[in-house]
Amino acid sequence: MSGDSAILVTGGAGYIGSHAVLALLDAGRRVVVLDNLVTGFRWAVPEAATFIEGDIADGPLVASIIAEHDIGAIIHFAGSVVVPESVSDPLKYYHNNTAKSRALIESAVKGGEDTSSSRPPLPPTEYPTLFPSPRMRPSGRSTLTARARR
Ligand SMILES: NC(=O)c1ccc[n+]([C@@H]2O[C@H](COP(=O)([O-])OP(=O)(O)OC[C@H]3O[C@@H](n4cnc5c(N)ncnc54)[C@H](O)[C@@H]3O)[C@@H](O)[C@H]2O)c1
Repeated sequence: MSGDSAILVTGGAGYIGSHAVLALLDAGRRVVVLDNLVTGFRWAVPEAATFIEGDIADGPLVASIIAEHDIGAIIHFAGSVVVPESVSDPLKYYHNNTAKSRALIESAVKGGEDTSSSRPPLPPTEYPTLFPSPRMRPSGRSTLTARARR
C-alpha cells in the first residue's frame, strides 16, 4: 500500500469503526467509510472522511469505491454483533458476518477490476484455516470465520 492511497473502513459509522476512523485521520491518512447505517450513525463519521452509504456485499459499489478513491487497504468492522440476537437468529449472523464478508473479500481481491480502473487484480493469497471453539456462539463464530490469517 502506498502512503498516498486511501483506507476503506467498513462499519466506520459504528462503535469501533468510528474510533478507528478518528485514529487514521489523526495519522494523516485519507479515509473512506462504507456503512449501511443499520446500527451505525452518520454523525459518528467525521467530515474529514468520505462517507458512502451502502452494503459491503454490493460488489459493483465496492469496486467503484476501490477504483475511484485509490483504496490501498480495507479495515473491516461492518457486521452484526449482538450476542443474544445471534443465538436467536444465527442465520442473520452467518449472512451478514460470513457471506457478506466473503463478498467483500472477493471485491478486494478483484481490486476494482469491475470498473475502468487500470489497477491489476491482487495476487492470490493463502486461505485461512480456522478452528472455532465448539463453545463459541454464532456472533463470534460467524465473524471469526470471515477473518483471514496467513
Ligand atoms: N464492541 C466491542 O467491544 C468489540 C470488541 C472487539 C471486536 N469488535 C468487533 O468490531 C466490529 C464492529 O463492532 P461494533 O461494536 O463497532 O458494532 P457496531 O454495530 O457499532 O458497528 C457495526 C457497523 O457496521 C455497519 N454494518 C453492519 N452490517 C453492514 C453491512 N452489511 N454493510 C455495511 N455496513 C454494515 C453498521 O451500520 C455499523 O455502523 C465487529 O466485528 C465486532 O465483532 C467489537
